[in-house]
Amino acid sequence: MTASSAGSQFGNQLGDKVALITGAGSGVGRATALALAMEGVWVGLLGRRSEPLAETARRIQSQSGIPATSRTTILPADVSDEEAVDDAIEQLVHDAGGLDILVHCAGVGIYGAVEGYSLADWQRTFDTNVTGLFLAARAVLPHLRARGGGSIVAISSGAGKHGYANRAAYSASKFAVHGFMESLAAEVGPAGIKCGTVVPGSILSDFGPSDVAAKRASGNRYLEPADVATLIVHLLQQPAHAWTQEVNLWPF
Ligand SMILES: NC(=O)c1ccc[n+]([C@@H]2O[C@H](COP(=O)([O-])OP(=O)(O)OC[C@H]3O[C@@H](n4cnc5c(N)ncnc54)[C@H](OP(=O)(O)O)[C@@H]3O)[C@@H](O)[C@H]2O)c1
Repeated sequence: MTASSAGSQFGNQLGDKVALITGAGSGVGRATALALAMEGVWVGLLGRRSEPLAETARRIQSQSGIPATSRTTILPADVSDEEAVDDAIEQLVHDAGGLDILVHCAGVGIYGAVEGYSLADWQRTFDTNVTGLFLAARAVLPHLRARGGGSIVAISSGAGKHGYANRAAYSASKFAVHGFMESLAAEVGPAGIKCGTVVPGSILSDFGPSDVAAKRASGNRYLEPADVATLIVHLLQQPAHAWTQEVNLWPF
């Protein structure tokens, strides 16, 4: 058994791994796809819109020299659609020959006061942030077990640890991510599957009601998507005997 095939005492080489990244067409998901591709990982890029996923693939090609069609699979799908998620993962496994890693970045932030908040927005928030995580995790698990282990990384938020005015739905959905991930970690840890949750503060992306330009203009402090991606790569490179269950990353 080589270090690259299983993760050695000194660190887990990612070059022969296959990762599914949800929300890979923008922000943290795109940055994570780029960072993992640079480590040699075969990346499955999942999101609802094809064009942003194709743009991520083009950026992988221009940064790494890897042809866009090689070791990159574009998977247009809605994470809240059970059949679409199952089909996307089967396609990735078919193309790449297996699956080792899930990074669930897909998420929505629809803010507003509870009084006047629509049931449709509540359901969309939970469908994407919670049900999407459940569906993707459930579908990847048999493939991770077949490899003898793997990793699932979910992105929570500071709002997953504390409630904020006008963010009840988003905050509740991210609290749910923690409950799900803690339970899943206990369930599949014995099978060699590490479940980790990244808790970032505000990130300079188009997420939520204000876009990057508005965020820049606000003068507030933000993380770059690449900061979160770098942390995710670090978690995935930890040696086989080390596991980060949860990590906070704040703008400074
Ligand atoms: N930005 C922040 O300040 C911040 C702070 C803390 C935590 N987070 C968390 O970080 C994660 C990534 O956010 P980000 O900042 O990278 O925002 P982003 O750029 O808006 O990325 C979200 C991605 O999710 C995808 N997505 C949304 N709904 C989907 C669905 N139903 N099915 C499949 N894909 C879907 C979007 O692509 P499509 O529209 O093409 O589907 C988009 O690429 C989210 O979970 C967010 O809650 C963000």
